[in-house]
Amino acid sequence: MASEFEGKKLVAIGGASGMGLKTAQNVIEKGGSAVIIGRPGRKLDDAVANLSRSGSAWSIAADLTKWDQVVEAQRQLAQNHSDATLLVNSAGFFLPKPFVDHEVVDYDSYHDLNRSTFFLTQTVVRGMIDGGRGGAIVNVGSMWAHQALAATPSSAYSMAKAGLHALTHNLAIELADKGIRVNAVAPAVTDTPLYEKVFPAGQVQGSLEQLSGLHPLGRIGTPQDLASAITFLLSSDSDWTTGAILNVDGGVMAGRN
Ligand SMILES: NC(=O)c1ccc[n+]([C@@H]2O[C@H](COP(=O)([O-])OP(=O)(O)OC[C@H]3O[C@@H](n4cnc5c(N)ncnc54)[C@H](OP(=O)(O)O)[C@@H]3O)[C@@H](O)[C@H]2O)c1
Repeated sequence: MASEFEGKKLVAIGGASGMGLKTAQNVIEKGGSAVIIGRPGRKLDDAVANLSRSGSAWSIAADLTKWDQVVEAQRQLAQNHSDATLLVNSAGFFLPKPFVDHEVVDYDSYHDLNRSTFFLTQTVVRGMIDGGRGGAIVNVGSMWAHQALAATPSSAYSMAKAGLHALTHNLAIELADKGIRVNAVAPAVTDTPLYEKVFPAGQVQGSLEQLSGLHPLGRIGTPQDLASAITFLLSSDSDWTTGAILNVDGGVMAGRN
C-alpha cells in the first residue's frame, strides 16, 4: 500500500548503506520519512541527499564506537525526532577471525556497538512512550547468532548478535502494553557493502557467489530481500507479531542441502 507509512518517521541506525538504507527507501516510498544515523562523512551525506529526492530525510552523524557521539545523537533524537514511531537497528560490521586470534579490541568493537544500539533504542522508545502512539522496532540480528559456519569464524560477533536477539525478546515483553512491537530479522549472506571490508577489493562478488551454495534457495540475499521483511515487520501488516526472530536466510536455518 503506497501510503502505509504516511506521517510516520523511521529512525534507521546504521542506515547509510545496505539493508538499513533500503528499508529507509521503502518507508519513504510508502509515505513516511527517515532519520539516518551513520558515521560522519560523504556516505551519510549522499544517502540522505538521495533519500531527500523522494521525501523527507534527515541525518545524524555519529561514530557509534565513540560514546560522546552517541550521547550527542541521543540529544538530537530527543530534541528533533521524538515523534519517530519506527526504528530499525542495522548498524554492524563483520570481520571473521578465529576465536584464538581474537583480541580485546575485536571483542569490544562488537559489544560497544551493541551498547550504542541499546541506549539509542532507549531514547527512541522514550519518545514512542511519551507520544502514546505505539511503535515498531526491528533489530537486524544474524543467522550467525543461531549457527556457526566454519568458513566464517565469528565468535564475538555472534555473541553480540545473540544479545540483540535476546534484547528483542525482552523489549517485546516490556513494551507490549505500550503498543510497541519489537521484532528481529536474522539474515544469512546478503550482498551489501558489509563484505567490502571482509574480502579484498575486486574479489567481493566472486567470494560472495561462492557462498551461494550454502543457501538452499541457491543464491545469496539482496538488500531488498531483507528490507522487504523489515518493512513488513514495521508495517501494520504485522500488527499481531512481536518478539519474533524472522530467519531471512534463503533456507539456511531449515536444514542442510
Ligand atoms: N550482509 C550480511 O550478509 C549480513 C548477515 C547477517 C547480519 N547482517 C547484519 O546486517 C546489518 C546491516 O548490515 P548490511 O549488511 O546492510 O551492511 P552495511 O551496508 O555495511 O550496513 C551496516 C551499516 O552500519 C554502519 N556502521 C558500522 N559501524 C558503525 C559505527 N561505528 N558508527 C556508525 N555506523 C556504523 C556502517 O557504516 P560504515 O560502513 O561507515 O561503518 C553501515 O552503514 C548489520 O548489523 C550486520 O551485522 C548482515
